[in-house]
Amino acid sequence: MSREPIFCEVAAPREHKGSKFSREAIWLTWSKSFRAFVAELESAGELNRRVTMKNIRGCAPYSTTYHPDKDPRKATYWPLLLDFAKSLDDWRISDKMILFRDMFPAALDSRKMRVLFSLLRVAVTEIYGDQRASLSAPVTPERKDLGFPLHADLFLSSKLWLIFDDVPDDKSGASLFMSRQNLLHLLKKQPKFPVSALKDVRQLMCGKVSRDSFDKLFRILHGGANEWSDELSLSLQKAAMKIRLRRGEGYLMDDRRWLHGRDAATRPVAAWRFHRLTFGPIEI
Ligand SMILES: [Fe+2]
Repeated sequence: MSREPIFCEVAAPREHKGSKFSREAIWLTWSKSFRAFVAELESAGELNRRVTMKNIRGCAPYSTTYHPDKDPRKATYWPLLLDFAKSLDDWRISDKMILFRDMFPAALDSRKMRVLFSLLRVAVTEIYGDQRASLSAPVTPERKDLGFPLHADLFLSSKLWLIFDDVPDDKSGASLFMSRQNLLHLLKKQPKFPVSALKDVRQLMCGKVSRDSFDKLFRILHGGANEWSDELSLSLQKAAMKIRLRRGEGYLMDDRRWLHGRDAATRPVAAWRFHRLTFGPIEI
């Protein structure tokens, strides 16, 4: 059994103290026990493994995940990893945003963090007995970062955890958020937004997601050909909450209760921009 949960609560970083969004969030970091566990994995060479890409059946079109090159289920650390993964999966996610800080201790660098996320993914899928219950989905690199408007990922599982890594150190590339409640309120007030589209958004954000639905929601909110697109885009930009999260910071949230996005950044989007884990029960 692990001695304490995977995370522990901490104060907000000084740099974010002026932000209302930060003040209303819960801030977490790795617990002491988990840091010790990571240090053990590191000294045993377990974080120097390679990760491969794997496609998970039933998760199309975004079905790719990082996967460790060696099955961790026979390793001596497996029971402890499983226990920490349970703690991650049990973490109470409410309407409140959970933010992270200091997630790169000395034992972790970008490659090792990727391995760690892939190991946690295997453990979460073991808990559910379902390969679809968690994906550590890779970042799509972009030569130019034009930003990403507010959206929900709408993977089959609803918890979304991101830790930023290769981010610009200037003021660009801030994370954007909007609660589902605020989105629905804003859409109702859009004169050109049809009732049928509002019904679809409500279904996608509040109903069961039986297949990856990112594209469907994105088309409704940001499909350029829609007659409501321009006005809606301006309203969403104006109403979004903003916080510039740095390396080692990130968030954990219910992807159905919050939309997320980011401002354009001055650097290309590299495959190391962030580490991501989506997880939770499959609703179908
Ligand atoms: Fe996303």
